[in-house]
Amino acid sequence: MDNQEWLEQARQEIAQSAVKKYRIDAETADELVNEILQKSPKLLKVIQDATEWRDVERSKYFKEAASSAKKRIYYYLRQYKQDQDNQAMLVRKLANAKEPDRELLDQLAETHASTRERMPSREAFYPELKAAVGEISSILDLGCGLQPLIWPFSGLFGTTNRYLALDKDPDCIRILQAFARLQPALQTSRWFLNEGLKALQNEEFDLALMLKFIPVLARQAREELPLLYQVPARYWAISGSKISLTKKESIEFRERKAIERFVRDAGRRVVAEFDAGEEFVVVAGKD
Ligand SMILES: C[S@@+](CC[C@H](N)C(=O)[O-])C[C@H]1O[C@@H](n2cnc3c(N)ncnc32)[C@H](O)[C@@H]1O
Repeated sequence: MDNQEWLEQARQEIAQSAVKKYRIDAETADELVNEILQKSPKLLKVIQDATEWRDVERSKYFKEAASSAKKRIYYYLRQYKQDQDNQAMLVRKLANAKEPDRELLDQLAETHASTRERMPSREAFYPELKAAVGEISSILDLGCGLQPLIWPFSGLFGTTNRYLALDKDPDCIRILQAFARLQPALQTSRWFLNEGLKALQNEEFDLALMLKFIPVLARQAREELPLLYQVPARYWAISGSKISLTKKESIEFRERKAIERFVRDAGRRVVAEFDAGEEFVVVAGKD
């Protein structure tokens, strides 16, 4: 075995162990591990000077590279948007489109981790939601991400006349604005929860979506949750994830507890619950 093969072996061993633990595909893990190895000159020198594989495996630089690679993979998976170049290209297409193109909208929805996870289960997600809330024509989507791109604006729920989508992420809002040109029911703007709900100007909605939003806030900005107790909608659909975005482990118990506590503290009542793929949804009514 020459030393080039030991570099290859180092890459494979680190990547394979990451694939076991994290929700990453083998090809991406390989790429990210390779990136780290190429930036580890001390390990490359150990590999070059080694006389057997054990010299590599036992060196502290191999262990350091393995730990950096896992960190890199973890942060990669935590990003909602992973392929910025592809997303930019798709947004340009959308900005030039003359009418909504389902395939293009789906491709864009795939560029955000939360909607990507929902794509395989949307055939179950929407009918289950319809069974819980019936026909609805106005929607408020808080922490919307790119969810409006896959909303059925006509058909299942009747006609959606108004869909107000709010999020703090400027990239999501820019994409949704490009879509809003083609979908007049959609209005979107940048919004931070700590601004409260005053921008809504006493408007009432049939349904408020807070999809994969409450557990995020419970972790990152718990003190802001009371600002959502008065969300002006007849129904609230609140969801959480069953599986971690990064590791192959269940987070359902923790997410469910955060949602149940929020509904209780807000003085709402759970009227339906359902599972759709890797997501669970709690629907709360007014009393
Ligand atoms: C896990 S994603 C869910 C996206 C979308 N609801 C879905 O399920 O497809 C959470 C979203 O909440 C937004 N967000 C987080 N904290 C926020 C805050 N304080 N104010 C407004 N938006 C926030 C993020 O930008 C992100 O788009």
